[in-house]
Amino acid sequence: MTHNLLKDKRGIIFGALDEYSIAWKVAQKANEEGAQFVLSNSPIALRKKDIYELAKQSNSQVIAADITEVSDLEDLFEESMQILGGKLDFVLHSVGMSPNVRKNIPYTELDYNYFFKTLDVSAISLHKVLSVAKRLDAIKEWGSVVTLSYIASQRVFSSYSDMAQAKAMLESIVRQFGYHYGVAKNVRINSVSQSPTRTTAGVGVSGFNAFLNYADAMSPLGNADSESCANICMFLFSDLSKMLTMQNLFNDGGFSSMGISNKLINQYIDCGCAE
Ligand SMILES: NC(=O)c1ccc[n+]([C@@H]2O[C@H](COP(=O)([O-])OP(=O)(O)OC[C@H]3O[C@@H](n4cnc5c(N)ncnc54)[C@H](O)[C@@H]3O)[C@@H](O)[C@H]2O)c1
Repeated sequence: MTHNLLKDKRGIIFGALDEYSIAWKVAQKANEEGAQFVLSNSPIALRKKDIYELAKQSNSQVIAADITEVSDLEDLFEESMQILGGKLDFVLHSVGMSPNVRKNIPYTELDYNYFFKTLDVSAISLHKVLSVAKRLDAIKEWGSVVTLSYIASQRVFSSYSDMAQAKAMLESIVRQFGYHYGVAKNVRINSVSQSPTRTTAGVGVSGFNAFLNYADAMSPLGNADSESCANICMFLFSDLSKMLTMQNLFNDGGFSSMGISNKLINQYIDCGCAE
């Protein structure tokens, strides 16, 4: 069911790699809700070509941009405003990558060049996107920017490695840039902290199935899927959330409020693990 929530709204969606990507679902929903947008991903990711299928389905154009390159972002924002016929109403930042995680490097022995890369791609890139948008005055008053986070920003998930620092920094940028962009232009910035979700980035984390199964057993509503995440994004992009900014919203079936659930009690009650 659609509600025309994004009728006449224009945006940029970063991070749709394939049909499993959270950004893919967001783009499909935004299209259903009446938005027009440009899809962007890194030049390497575009080689996968799946995104052109999404572009066809949603009648949108694809523009390559390495999200860590300010000049790529400047070109992307300028071109997007030309293609879409004016300033933007929303931006989705759905981007993350850690070379340390990819290469299975133990957290206590991080490669620091890779660590910088993790922070640049997964967190500082949000600052770059916002800074370019603000300088070009590319986002309309009351526009909305959403990024994707994970609860490892606040708690230890043992194999999430340096992505935990990236998410902590990301959520901090949401708050701090949210203040400055809010005061200057009433632009809103929020993050959605999503349940473990089976995507390329997700399954790259070692022990991902344990993250998924444990969170599902812990959460009263079970894990939130990418479709439910896309619905939250529609709300955040729409005027319904006009006074929401600088927030981290948990789309996690209740996981973040839990200590232990009956399912896990039953699983561990007689395991003899601590004996
Ligand atoms: N999947 C999960 O379990 C989960 C849970 C919570 C949060 N998230 C977050 O959701 C976001 C989207 O990830 P996803 O799970 O949909 O996986 P995904 O792999 O489909 O998306 C990650 C995207 O980042 C893009 N990217 C990487 N480096 C880039 C660069 N230099 N320039 C431009 N784009 C670049 C990739 O091409 C890809 O499209 C990430 O921030 C991720 O951390 C995912």
